[in-house]
Amino acid sequence: MVERSLQIILLAAGKGTRMKSDQPKVMHAIAGRSMLGHVLALAERAGASDVAVVIGPDMDNVRAEALAHMSRAQIYIQEQQRGTGDAVLAARGAIAAHDGDVLVLYGDTPLIELETLTKLRDALADDAQLAVLGFHAADPTGYGRLLSDPDGALIAIREHKDASAAEREISLCNSGVLAFRGEHLLSLLERIKNDNANGEYYLTDTVEVANGDGLRAVAITCPEEEVLGINSRTQLAQAEAIYQRRARQKAMDGGATLIAPETVWLSYDTVIGRDVVIEPNVFMAPGVTIADGALIRANCHLEGAQLGRGVKVGPFARLRPGTKLAAGAFIGNFVEVKNTTLGEGAKASHLSYLGDGVVGARANIGAGTIFCNYDGFNKARTTIGEGAFIGSNSALVAPVTIGKGAFVGSGSVISKDVSADALALSRAAQEEKPGWAAKFRTMMARRKQRASGG
Ligand code: UD1
Ligand code: CA
Repeated sequence: MVERSLQIILLAAGKGTRMKSDQPKVMHAIAGRSMLGHVLALAERAGASDVAVVIGPDMDNVRAEALAHMSRAQIYIQEQQRGTGDAVLAARGAIAAHDGDVLVLYGDTPLIELETLTKLRDALADDAQLAVLGFHAADPTGYGRLLSDPDGALIAIREHKDASAAEREISLCNSGVLAFRGEHLLSLLERIKNDNANGEYYLTDTVEVANGDGLRAVAITCPEEEVLGINSRTQLAQAEAIYQRRARQKAMDGGATLIAPETVWLSYDTVIGRDVVIEPNVFMAPGVTIADGALIRANCHLEGAQLGRGVKVGPFARLRPGTKLAAGAFIGNFVEVKNTTLGEGAKASHLSYLGDGVVGARANIGAGTIFCNYDGFNKARTTIGEGAFIGSNSALVAPVTIGKGAFVGSGSVISKDVSADALALSRAAQEEKPGWAAKFRTMMARRKQRASGG
């Protein structure tokens, strides 16, 4: 069989007024990535050689988002929203230049699985010139209905508003995803009309035109949840829930223990190794990688962090972008780490801020240590050598370097570099006055007695 190239046309011209947002609908995120980003990632995985994104006028941010995810995407503008058929025609230049299969996807339908797209393409490879992705809707109201003949060929798609009472009884609906043998597409699109209840050019009418030409159209089905279209904040939350359920399942299938999976929030790019244990209530924003055997204790927030083998984090830790923890490092409760690397076995067990620094292997950062990395204008770096010991409640005023094996006494404010194996102290020397407290108590008791006239 000759391998046919794939073009994907992604419709994203809708404003999505029901989102009640200043952002176009496709800019809204699921698991830390815009819906548009999700669909473009799917297009990439599907092996599309050619991707055209149809946006509305004044959608520069959508254009930028599309190009950020896929620099080779071609952007087309649909000047007026005259229907899905008109939207696909906005990418006429791309269609005319392409030879192979064409798949139409919607920017607001981000949960489709790759296997489902493969099935649609397989239908084209068999004997169909047009394949529609359908699903059995729990409530078909509002969807286009798939009308088939007794041999299973698809003869038309009837939009809800235009459907008869009998047609409305059909629960097999159009997801919006259509696949075409590209050589027929422009000719089909040019012949659709807008004589329907909405006065729009319906992409779905290509099915009837194709049948009139003696071409074969078929329907392929998938579960309803894959083709959930997002029109409102409620549906956005439903899509997030579906995505999270899948991502947690993938993590567990990969050998991670999620004690309460429904309370662990993952991002689209979270990577989790084997024998990782994640306790309840953990949120992972984008950019998190967790190597084998790590333990993430309850109530942590992680973003842009790389965790090595066997690290322990939390409970109640915050790892911000640029955190790198080498194997066996430990970040304990109420510790915030940003743009800082910890070497193997290094520890910060309690109540600290480590920002813009490097901590050597096996160094120990005492409770309440602060890397003072910001002077109101610039950020500066703190470097701590291997095996160094930073006493509790120390402030390290960056830029500053603590040598290998050095000690910093508790409560110090360190603003000058400390040599290897030295002790640095910068707190006031301790004084002791023998018997002072006992004398003080006696004196105060007498005074009180006199004042009360005793
Ligand atoms: C469409 C289908 C319907 C299907 C449903 C699935 C048509 C005519 N109808 O209906 O059969 O059951 O999706 O959700 O195709 N868009 C543009 N430009 C336009 C019009 C739409 O870019 O001029 C984009 C929208 O942004 C959206 C998508 O195309 O992403 C679908 O458009 P919408 O108007 O929501 O179609 P439905 O009426 O839901
Ligand atoms: Ca819709």
